[in-house]
Amino acid sequence: MPASTADQTPYYITTPIYYVNDRPHIGHCYSTLIADVAARGQRLVGRDVFFLTGTDEHAEKVSKTAAENNKTPMEWATINAERFKAAFEFMNFSNDDFVRTTEERHKVKAVEYITKLKDEGVVTLGDYEGWYDPSQEEYLTEMVAKENDFNSPVTGKPLEKRVEQNWFFDLPRYEPWLKEQIESGELRILPEARKNEVLGRLKQGLRAVPVSRKIKEGDADWGIKMPGDDSHRIYVWIEALCNYLTTVDTDERRKYWEGEVVHLMAKDILWFHAIVWPAMLYALGKKPPETVYAHAYWIAEGKKMSKSLGNFIEIDLLEAYAERYSLDAMRWFLTTQGPLGANDSDFAHARFIEVYNADLANSVGNSMSRVGNMIDKYFGGTVPATCNGEFGFPNGSSLQTALIALSNAGKAVDDPARTYHFAEFTQNAVNDAVDALGRMDLGSMLSSGRSIVKHVDDFISYCAPFTLAKQLDTLDDGKHALESILYSCAEALRIASLLLSPAMPEKMAELWQNWDCDHLNTAEDSNSGFKAPLSELAAWGGAYSIKPGQKILKGEALFMRADAKEPAPEAESVS
Ligand code: MSP
Repeated sequence: MPASTADQTPYYITTPIYYVNDRPHIGHCYSTLIADVAARGQRLVGRDVFFLTGTDEHAEKVSKTAAENNKTPMEWATINAERFKAAFEFMNFSNDDFVRTTEERHKVKAVEYITKLKDEGVVTLGDYEGWYDPSQEEYLTEMVAKENDFNSPVTGKPLEKRVEQNWFFDLPRYEPWLKEQIESGELRILPEARKNEVLGRLKQGLRAVPVSRKIKEGDADWGIKMPGDDSHRIYVWIEALCNYLTTVDTDERRKYWEGEVVHLMAKDILWFHAIVWPAMLYALGKKPPETVYAHAYWIAEGKKMSKSLGNFIEIDLLEAYAERYSLDAMRWFLTTQGPLGANDSDFAHARFIEVYNADLANSVGNSMSRVGNMIDKYFGGTVPATCNGEFGFPNGSSLQTALIALSNAGKAVDDPARTYHFAEFTQNAVNDAVDALGRMDLGSMLSSGRSIVKHVDDFISYCAPFTLAKQLDTLDDGKHALESILYSCAEALRIASLLLSPAMPEKMAELWQNWDCDHLNTAEDSNSGFKAPLSELAAWGGAYSIKPGQKILKGEALFMRADAKEPAPEAESVS
């Protein structure tokens, strides 16, 4: 079975749900963007996708910042949840739902799960003493606390020694099962380096996890009460993890949990997702997620982003980049240059310009306008014929004709025996892209699309259709050769555009409109937005291929070249 028609099980991808104490920044947008690109990729392949994001609202820091801003926790949560929603809409994310943990649908189910865990006897009352990180609302092991000089490994703020009577989840009970799941790859932790980290930490042994916090005098009335114990609230982390299940625990959506589940987040919160949550699911009688993917961090112009440095790249700056270079260029930069692997990535303006010009203005955009312009100029914008995409020996008359034209024009041909097999090349690129998508290797998926563009560019510089075009009257089969060459370039770029579309949905849709390509299904009930799965859409000469008579409009350049000397865009100041 070719990779492009592979897995058809429902696909469920989630992002962390974000704290609503503050406004969204590049980190939140990045995780959600990666999930968006993966979701769009899977929909393109033809899978039934559910993509969830949302906000985590019952944290103590939400009620604290609300008070600092003279708002009730709910008012403050709503202000920020709306900011997240607006930012994600701006980023053109295709999430199928946005969950807020203050919604009834979440609260009711979360209570139901905790009650079940109590009934099963895996959540019980006990004493707990440990190092608490108030800035992250989590307890750390003695060892992690020591390693970080009793400061938060995430924010650097001091840890607090806390003793509490709490409800605990008996995590140690699941240690052998977790080890087996992770080692066997049944529960896939990606990237590989992160899997080793988790296994290493698992070796140090597990401790019971607090599931509740005692309500103290003066506490804001914020959070969900522990079922059967009004003196405690459910610990926000435990409640937050439940969102992945609460949102799809309905008759219509249950199929997504039963399908392939992918949780995406950054390395800071991998432990909760790779260890605590799968164990909770096991205790609830549910299968664990198939993949837990923890990417690394964005830093800004070489420095870690922090409140004290005031160098957070917030949504406003991303908007300024989108305004100047287009939203899809910004999505492209973040997706291809971001910290999807184990290493952090730097958001630097100079790098943005370099990537923008190299990948988009000079490559994807240039190739697409060049081919459109030639079809416009030589054939009045109407595709004249089709071609099977085979160039070179033994049936290479078109290529030979182009090479004759070149030598007539006194230009050298370095390697006269080259062959090009576009149908096979594009099919391989599609298969590679689908394989890469399955590994969440989105950079490679997009590179497969770019490899087609590069192949077309290489073909054009090799056979120089513009030189051939000047000799149509003198060469017997000149017109046919030019038709075959330009058809093949256009058809190959059409297929490339499909593979690039998860990162650049708007720009590629613009191309399809200019080129009269019939890929999109605007019917509301279409999960993917496409008329057919990728295997059919991308078939050379198939039902969706470019046809004789099809109009190719030149259109405006998709990406104008950027001037490296221009000062970087700046965020508009916000209140
Ligand atoms: N509310 C918890 C998550 C609960 S999930 C059940 C939380 N929220 S958060 O607002 O702090 O978001 C953390 C996540 O934001 C990270 O895991 C990552 O997805 C994203 N990022 C935050 N800063 C980041 C960078 N500097 N770089 C990349 N992504 C980062 O933790």
